[in-house]
Amino acid sequence: MPMTRLLSALLAAGVVFAPMSVAIAQDSAPPAGTVEAAPAATAEGGQPAAENTEAVQPAEAAAGEQPAEAVASEKMPEEEHAESETPHYPIKKPDELSWSFAGPFGSWDIGQLQRGLKVYKEVCAACHSMNLVAMRNLEALGYSEDQVKAFAAEYLVQDGPNGDGDMFERPGIPSDRFPAPFPNPEAAAAANNGAVPPDLSLIAKARAAERGFPTFVFDIFTQYAESGPDYIHALLTGYEEAPAGLELQPGTYYNPYYLYGPALAMAEPISDGFVEYGDGAPETTDQYARDVSAFLMWAAEPHLAERKATGLIVMLFLVVFAALMFLIKRRVWAGTPH
Ligand code: HEC
Repeated sequence: MPMTRLLSALLAAGVVFAPMSVAIAQDSAPPAGTVEAAPAATAEGGQPAAENTEAVQPAEAAAGEQPAEAVASEKMPEEEHAESETPHYPIKKPDELSWSFAGPFGSWDIGQLQRGLKVYKEVCAACHSMNLVAMRNLEALGYSEDQVKAFAAEYLVQDGPNGDGDMFERPGIPSDRFPAPFPNPEAAAAANNGAVPPDLSLIAKARAAERGFPTFVFDIFTQYAESGPDYIHALLTGYEEAPAGLELQPGTYYNPYYLYGPALAMAEPISDGFVEYGDGAPETTDQYARDVSAFLMWAAEPHLAERKATGLIVMLFLVVFAALMFLIKRRVWAGTPH
């Protein structure tokens, strides 16, 4: 018995201290620059340390200026390295917005989703498909069956083959998915400077800017899970003039929030007043970006609100159940002396 206790104590100590010692080792390693600079500094001071005497003396004898030059030439490669190093993307971190669907009590803002659908339909759908979302799913955005039927009928959908073996076009029905704007990825790339606009069905879950240490640790406790919509909003509102000296590929547009480079092949898709809202919401780029990001979050996880509501009930049940079990345990063991 004492043996197993000792072993488990040692194991626990190992688990705690092993990462600590790695961290200490990393901290105490001096940065590359100081190591290189040390001999030069002693040479300048004119009081070289005993071990370095031989190496430094000839330099001092030759000329007084030389050590200073040596310092400069030693630093040069480092600076060049810093400049030529690939900058880390995204250069700017997305702002954390407040979303109605965030947190354990989160639920959809139906009005916002309807506006987001409008932005997607009138702007993004010209280039981006949404292959996993069917028209009938739109009933979750508060539309009646008839409204969805009318919405679907606005599209022409390719169907077939018919009895003669030919494909034909017909008006959409609720079971159809959103029709893709291009027949195939090659056509999409040809129309967009060689870049295929990604399918937007799951994009809100597929894109998340890295938050880095320690933020990602805090995120575990704050339950932050909105980096997808935050990123899409930042991308749509974040277009800027490219900084002087930066040469962009033709057909690309500078955006410091883009995850994979300084510029992307999508031009700024929305601007103020682009889409008409009927409900009095501000018709600004920022509002469009918020609404379409929320809509894409719904598209990527339509059951998010139910999931959160169920989770809350489960947690409440567990709390009550734990209290009950505690009382039962006290009752069962009440007569047992200990
Ligand atoms: C004129 C065509 C066009 C329109 C309109 C358009 N996009 Fe794009 N989009 C593209 C292209 C092309 C890319 C691929 C860019 C690349 O790979 O460089 C892209 C990429 C994206 C990406 C992925 C960025 C990443 O991190 O990979 C998102 C998200 C996106 N678009 C959202 C939208 C939204 C939302 C709208 C509507 C408001 C929209 N787009 C409208 C052409 C378009």
